[in-house]
Amino acid sequence: MEIKKVVVSLCMGSACHQFGVYGVLPVLRGLLAESGYSDLVELKGAFCLGPCTEGIVINVGTVQITGINPQTLSRKFTKKILPAIIKQSEAANEPS
Ligand code: FES
Repeated sequence: MEIKKVVVSLCMGSACHQFGVYGVLPVLRGLLAESGYSDLVELKGAFCLGPCTEGIVINVGTVQITGINPQTLSRKFTKKILPAIIKQSEAANEPS
């Protein structure tokens, strides 16, 4: 059975660019690879995701995570991004 991936969209809009998204992207890729869950994820760039003033924005499936910057990324990854990936992957791949 093919695994349904969770789409992780990283905002590449101009505000998130100002907050340093181009520095965050390679670190996010590295954290995903280290986690062992990168096969569950389709990582994409996105246009503005909405809350531009709240730091870099990532949508993990249906969950939006804000307030990301190079300093908070690792903590946000462990506390919010990875749990959201695992939860949504489990839901999407439940046997029917
Ligand atoms: S530019 Fe990233 S949320 Fe608007």
